Amino acid sequence: MRVFKDKLALSAFLSDKSKVGFVPTMGALHNGHVSLIKLSVNQCQVTVCSIFVNPAQFNDKNDLLNYPRTTEKDLTLLEEAGCDVVFIPEVEEIYPPNLSMQNYDFGAIEKVMEGEHRPGHFNGMANVVQRLFDIVKPNLAFFGEKDFQQLCVVKQLVKLLDLPITIVPGAIIREDDGLAMSSRNMLLTSLERTQASGIYNTLLQIKNRSNTSNPQELLDFAVENLKKYPLIKPEYIQFAYADNLENLTVLDKSRSVMLFIAVKLGKVRLIDNMLIYE
Ligand code: PAF
Repeated sequence: MRVFKDKLALSAFLSDKSKVGFVPTMGALHNGHVSLIKLSVNQCQVTVCSIFVNPAQFNDKNDLLNYPRTTEKDLTLLEEAGCDVVFIPEVEEIYPPNLSMQNYDFGAIEKVMEGEHRPGHFNGMANVVQRLFDIVKPNLAFFGEKDFQQLCVVKQLVKLLDLPITIVPGAIIREDDGLAMSSRNMLLTSLERTQASGIYNTLLQIKNRSNTSNPQELLDFAVENLKKYPLIKPEYIQFAYADNLENLTVLDKSRSVMLFIAVKLGKVRLIDNMLIYE
């Protein structure tokens, strides 16, 4: 496995490779990331993973300061997963002073849920993804469905810039108790970690009841169910159509409907989602 810090050296190394798969990450890797690497290894000639904690996408300074950094362990996981190339740039490599930030218009999909609760987050995320795409020039790029709205925004970015990149989604990978794997899980105290299973439990219970109730009744039930896990403070829980993330008040079974949740457990913010109807 080759490790690059320098973007020009990485671009030169990749210039004669024919099918490049790319998994952008912020490190603190877990089996969710590993599953994306494996998807890429199976489909591509070369798999590149970037590890870069992107300051531009943190709307909360403390979140950036506390974001877990476990580079040595990450490198071992990547090597074991069959990754070929790792890119670990410094901030100046990605944000040289002469390059200004882009302001994108992604329309309605960036204004709801995470977009509403984390102002500037998607614009900062899209800036780094565009810069990384520009350096790596992948044929395929892999993004996890836990960050489903991010996946939608990245697809929109590729469309907007007319990039020849196929965005491949990776299924959510869960712990044994259902908690969606996330780098932030390692910041939970043991009590918070135990109660965090309530997020999945709630999503699952709603999915199992979705044939019988209307959306508002289901959401009221969700709020009640979450009270069994008093450390979980819900930020939002809502249904939305999978294709445009539009909020819905009637469950239309002819369209793909998803349930989205964001919560705080102590200082840690977690998100999750579940497909309710195909
Ligand atoms: O999902 C993430 O880890 C980040 O948002 C990404 C895509 C690596 C951009 O910084």
